[in-house]
Amino acid sequence: MSRGVLRWAGSKRALVPTLMKCMPPKHRQYFEPFAGSAALFFACEPEGATLGDTNADLINFLDQLKSDPTLLHCSIAEMPIGKEHYYLIRASRPADALARAARFAYLNRFCFNGLYRTNRSGEFNVPAGKNTGRMPSLAMYKDAARVLLHANLKLASFHETLRDVDSGDFVYLDPPYPTDRQTYGEYGYSLPFPESDLKDAISELHGRGVRLMTTYPTADLTLGLTDFRTLEMRTLRQVASKTAYRRRRPEYLSWNYDAQLDSLYY
Ligand SMILES: C[S@@+](CC[C@H](N)C(=O)[O-])C[C@H]1O[C@@H](n2cnc3c(N)ncnc32)[C@H](O)[C@@H]1O
Repeated sequence: MSRGVLRWAGSKRALVPTLMKCMPPKHRQYFEPFAGSAALFFACEPEGATLGDTNADLINFLDQLKSDPTLLHCSIAEMPIGKEHYYLIRASRPADALARAARFAYLNRFCFNGLYRTNRSGEFNVPAGKNTGRMPSLAMYKDAARVLLHANLKLASFHETLRDVDSGDFVYLDPPYPTDRQTYGEYGYSLPFPESDLKDAISELHGRGVRLMTTYPTADLTLGLTDFRTLEMRTLRQVASKTAYRRRRPEYLSWNYDAQLDSLYY
């Protein structure tokens, strides 16, 4: 079970044991169209997978990690650590893919709360964090790259990623909470989508017999669809920059197949 190497606001790392119990025992390809740090993907190490996200820096980082974890790790190790250096590196705009991936990993490690937030011009604007921990080791980079070898990485909106899904596949949907995205620029301001688009996509996949699991702050995504079960979980989401916004929000887990969780909660 790999842990991945990124911090990510909205990461489902704390929920991984529950999510793994809820996964279908058998499926063909694994799809995660809102990948982020892909905590569940790294934990369950599927043999065939597609990870999609609209964050170009994130997908470039995963591409570089997959193709040469040692080279990427060495590039990051050369970067000086400290608050002043953080702001210089944040202001830099490296042109080549490897240097961009190293900058992304550095900022991800040393920023406040693992946030990815941009201004309206698309510039990363998260301040330096405190007590962020060290860069992951080379062994962790190599382990994450091993899991990524079985994954197809897509810089794409969820619509596009879902186009490749077949009926025997499993899809885990962990979309951003709409208010965070639109109000605070969390995950960037680009490509906002109405919740109804996602509901339509879920309904279409469900109709084709695709096995779906969703996590979302409301139970609305699968409301009205037969054969979905929903469990309310309470999680501490550290997604906003002000302590006042760090409150407990409900989180709903839904799925449309027989799962081990069924016997635990029903
Ligand atoms: C809640 S996070 C996913 C967290 C992930 N499950 C984890 O464990 O780290 C949502 C992700 O959706 C991505 N995203 C936002 N809008 C998107 C869109 N239209 N299509 C695909 N991905 C999108 C964001 O960049 C972000 O990485």
